[in-house]
Amino acid sequence: MSGEQLKELCISLIQADTETDVIDLLKKAGYWDKREAWRFYGDYENNYSTIGTQQSRPDAALVEKLVNSVDARLMNECLMQGILPESPAAPQSIREAVALFFESAKKSESNHTGLIREWPDSMRTEIARGITLSATGATAIDGNLCFSISDCGEGQTPEAMPNTFLSLTKTNKMRIPFVQGKFNMGGTGVLRFCGKHNLQLILSRRNPDILKGKFSHPSDTQWGFTIIRREDPEGNRRSSVYTYLASVNAECDHGRGGVLRFDAKAMPIFPDGRNAYSRTSAWGTLIKRNVALADIVLVMSNGGDSRFPQILTLEGTLLSINKLPNLLLCSTALSVKNL
Ligand SMILES: Nc1ncnc2c1ncn2[C@@H]1O[C@H](COP(=O)(O)OP(=O)(O)OP(=O)(O)O)[C@@H](O)[C@H]1O
Ligand SMILES: [Mg+2]
Repeated sequence: MSGEQLKELCISLIQADTETDVIDLLKKAGYWDKREAWRFYGDYENNYSTIGTQQSRPDAALVEKLVNSVDARLMNECLMQGILPESPAAPQSIREAVALFFESAKKSESNHTGLIREWPDSMRTEIARGITLSATGATAIDGNLCFSISDCGEGQTPEAMPNTFLSLTKTNKMRIPFVQGKFNMGGTGVLRFCGKHNLQLILSRRNPDILKGKFSHPSDTQWGFTIIRREDPEGNRRSSVYTYLASVNAECDHGRGGVLRFDAKAMPIFPDGRNAYSRTSAWGTLIKRNVALADIVLVMSNGGDSRFPQILTLEGTLLSINKLPNLLLCSTALSVKNL
């Protein structure tokens, strides 16, 4: 497929709100049944138990994604300032990072620095545009609700995706003090709650200003995308396995290909009003997942308090996102039909 065709496929996948639509698109493109084009998540076959034993609740699993977006935004600001995230020059706490990167304050000098609740509304709204959570598709009762989480954080290059989004044993954030991620698997927690085939779309582009013209691969400036799926036990394999679409050069190296990629100055990864995919970004990440029937009912935009987004779970519990430091760099946009 040409770059333009891949971009079109990617846009169709972004807009697809049912598993059937996603599978149809991948079948038409010749990927769904092409065995060698699917690579083991984390590059090991026995990945089902690791992925299946993350968060036991779907709302907590969803929050992991938002936490990742917050981490990615802080990483982006750090790298843009030319600071190595693992070096002593980097902020040593989340609050210090917020103060330094978003308030231009040197350290958390006073009781007020690095605290988003102290920000004026206009500033909070502006920064919150950098992480969004949108719901599309039918209602959860109809079984086809989807969530998309988008951010203009650091993003990852197509070649880095197998070692970041799609990995399970790396130490990406282990020595970075101002992010919340640590174990390289929290983001997989949602997979068990993602419909029948457990599909998830990831689209990402590394911020070109971080790369500063230093490329380790010619595709570093491209958008990369993939679909994750669960494959049922088959033959003498007794457990399911998670794989992702990685068809680039898979003919030569079965099951070890790269993710699909294409050139585009910007992609419509953010919502605008009731259109979930309309505001463009030149870099960043969009993750889209199906929600199973007995999953989260509704994400409330900001709950009663305009400052703090909340998630309403199936049991009716309100999970206040602001319990987690720094999740306030998140805005929500609802475009669920019939709600
Ligand atoms: N929104 C994002 N933007 C850029 N990179 C991301 C994003 N989300 C995840 N990643 C990459 O994918 C990796 C895996 O994410 P995951 O949440 O599984 O683990 P983690 O955040 O490293 O640690 P933890 O298990 O504690 O959450 C991250 O380390 C990061 O490199
Ligand atoms: Mg994480």
